Amino acid sequence: MPLRKILLLFISMCALAGFGCGSESRQQHAGTPEDPWVIGMSQCNLGEPWRVQMDADVRAAAADYDNLRVIFKDAQNSSLVQRAQVEEFVQQGVDLIIISPKEAAPLTRPVAEAYQGGIPVIVLDREVQGDQYTSFIGADNVRIGREAGRWIRETLGGRGRIVELKGLMTSTPGQDRNQGFLEGLELDRYPGLQVVFAGEMQWLEPNARREMESALATNSEIDVVYAHNDPGAHGAWLAARAAGRENDIMFVGIDALPHEGQQYVGQGILDATFLYPTGGEEAIELALRILRGEEVPEKIVLGTRIFTQQNVGAGGQPIN
Ligand code: FRU
Repeated sequence: MPLRKILLLFISMCALAGFGCGSESRQQHAGTPEDPWVIGMSQCNLGEPWRVQMDADVRAAAADYDNLRVIFKDAQNSSLVQRAQVEEFVQQGVDLIIISPKEAAPLTRPVAEAYQGGIPVIVLDREVQGDQYTSFIGADNVRIGREAGRWIRETLGGRGRIVELKGLMTSTPGQDRNQGFLEGLELDRYPGLQVVFAGEMQWLEPNARREMESALATNSEIDVVYAHNDPGAHGAWLAARAAGRENDIMFVGIDALPHEGQQYVGQGILDATFLYPTGGEEAIELALRILRGEEVPEKIVLGTRIFTQQNVGAGGQPIN
């Protein structure tokens, strides 16, 4: 077999295996309008409005470039499906992968294999383990949790009974929003603050509603609910309203989509929500820099804002 053929065979075997050929980027397309770069975007689910917004942000940013095409896939909230999607993108020979992973551990290996096979990977919003990807983009969830904890501590004047409704705890934002929240409450300095109930609602409104029903049944006094996202905070409010207790309790969430969390604050349903930017536009800008061969940072941290009933009309308040 001539040397060139052997080489070609080796390269295609590497592409199929998806690893073992070093992490040098290998582009399949020219990045011209005739032969555009192809980006594979794996979204962990499209059942939640925030994720629909992320895909819309990616789509809008990509529409500014005629030398770019994005293939969208929805993993329907299954880490197994999402793993297969990453593997399909590798086999298809996309030029770059963007993934917003459902859970850290199960997606770590497929991401690492794509990256080691020479396909740049941008991890968006939720993290994977280790460092075998090109860049991570997302807001600092420990910091958002800490700000929520501080806001609740200050608003309660250092005394009160708290319910925490956690996101999926196998995903990094759930872990980080819990850790930061406990730091922000400073429970050792404020013994009058008590977390009387903590439940895992896995980011989903119906689960939050159910968890809150248990919290209400076992606690005659609740001052505030901190939910790791706005659907969770809204689910808790629905449960409290059904029990006739919604006016005795404050509700705090995270995400602050204009047509979701910000609207809830405007309607007096939530007392506060913290912006969790999707990073969709930033991911496309970064993808282009990678595809053009530029050096890029390993981590891009996005900022946040707080929306309360005082400032929601004015677009919230940045947190520095
Ligand atoms: C949507 C979502 C958001 C949350 C983010 C965390 O799936 O639950 O509400 O802020 O994921 O990754």
